[in-house]
Amino acid sequence: MDDRLFIFDTTLRDGEQVPGCQLNTVEKIQVAKQLELLGVDVIEAGFPISSPGDFNSVIEISKAVTWPTICALTRAVQKDIDVAVEALQYARHKRIHTGIGTSDMHIKYKFNSNREEIIERGVAAVKYAKRFVEDVEFYAEDAGRTDNEYLARVVEAVIKAGATVVNIPDTTGYCLPDEYGAKIRYLMEHVDGIDRAIISTHCHNDLGMATANTISGILNGARQAEVTINGIGERAGNTSLEEIAMIIKCHSTIPVQTNINTTKIYPTSRMVSSLMNMPVQPNKAVVGRNAFAHSSGIHQDGVLKNVQTYEIMDPKDVGIDDNSIVLTARSGRAALRHRLSVLGIDMDGERLDKVYEAFLRLADQKKEIGDDDILMLAGADRTAGHSIKLKYLQVTSGVGVRPVASIGLDVAGEQFEAAASGNGPVDAAIKALKCIIRRQMTLKEFTIQAISKGSDDVGKVHMQVEYDGQLYYGFGANTDIIAASVEAYIDCINKFRH
Ligand code: KIV
Ligand code: ZN
Repeated sequence: MDDRLFIFDTTLRDGEQVPGCQLNTVEKIQVAKQLELLGVDVIEAGFPISSPGDFNSVIEISKAVTWPTICALTRAVQKDIDVAVEALQYARHKRIHTGIGTSDMHIKYKFNSNREEIIERGVAAVKYAKRFVEDVEFYAEDAGRTDNEYLARVVEAVIKAGATVVNIPDTTGYCLPDEYGAKIRYLMEHVDGIDRAIISTHCHNDLGMATANTISGILNGARQAEVTINGIGERAGNTSLEEIAMIIKCHSTIPVQTNINTTKIYPTSRMVSSLMNMPVQPNKAVVGRNAFAHSSGIHQDGVLKNVQTYEIMDPKDVGIDDNSIVLTARSGRAALRHRLSVLGIDMDGERLDKVYEAFLRLADQKKEIGDDDILMLAGADRTAGHSIKLKYLQVTSGVGVRPVASIGLDVAGEQFEAAASGNGPVDAAIKALKCIIRRQMTLKEFTIQAISKGSDDVGKVHMQVEYDGQLYYGFGANTDIIAASVEAYIDCINKFRH
């Protein structure tokens, strides 16, 4: 019989650390419930001591889900553990994830300490956490660059102190797959009492090896994989859940099974991408737009004769339902509702009416409405509570003329108008906007993304604006790319803290 591989999802903790990807508590609950439907075993809901927002999210996620274990991150510090215990008070199944850096680099430069003291601190943290919860996971930060012999001593000591799971993070994404696998094997063979704990992988993707390293870890004895949806995470991200789940499903030679309902993978991927405003690269394995699109004639011919000639997975197995991907102006409210629910969004009543109206307006402008459009429409009412709203925008631009923009804004119920010229239409529109919102703000990042195909498509704009020493992330989506840019800028301003 195959062993069980536990799936530990850290989208809401390691994934959420990405600048611009922060979610509010309501959005985090939405993601957590979807992760529960997907069948993850553990949800790392946050790092409670890091902010009141994280603390509150752990509380609310604990109340909202039933089956998964809710995990809270801490440093090997008593105060962190106290706060995590409080945040986990409503969780039906709870886990504290505590730990400390174990590589010589971390010991010397981060802690100005020595190997023995680090073991003592790790053991003390596990023992302290054990006073409050049975399930304690220990992480040896930068284990990827930690000497194996010393790492084995750390792991043995924390298991003796009561750790139920020991996490071996390749924090910097440095390890080669063979090297990471050998590290796990070394621990399996040299740690006394290893059978009393589960060894966990936690791999980062800095060199594009996170998935390979995780699989290598599993083949060598790890029985928990720490992953995120779409592989989001700091820098190049973490191991992606969908890749691990599908590798295990496709390869019967890997002797483990997960509890993941793979048909929920695609809706979950779309939901996370949409809520975090983080596009999925088109060629992303398993969930990218092109993952199942065969464009060359030879491939198309083969697939038409027998789909297995070029496809190793059935798109339906990951929840991609080809028949209903495209909606048009003739699609009814029920079709929209169904598509939204396939994408993980349940909507009814007035909210659905509003989205349907916006859908019809968009369908008048473009022939086919895809999933990205629908998610954009469903998310559009997230701006309902914003105090600054775009009322109108008119821009004249072209060759041989200086672009001019006039803009109308509703600022907390008051109407304002302004006009300005610029060296391009976006520049003119933002200058006009700045005539009304007179703050010292600087555009730091500006990405335009056409969603799929056709000149009638909706363009998405991602922006970062610096104000008062802080970076604010904004998003806009519109068939008019200048309007999308101004909407993204306004989205940033609406997030300013004062
Ligand atoms: O990458 C890492 O080392 C981590 C730990 C805090 C678990 O995210
Ligand atoms: Zn990490």
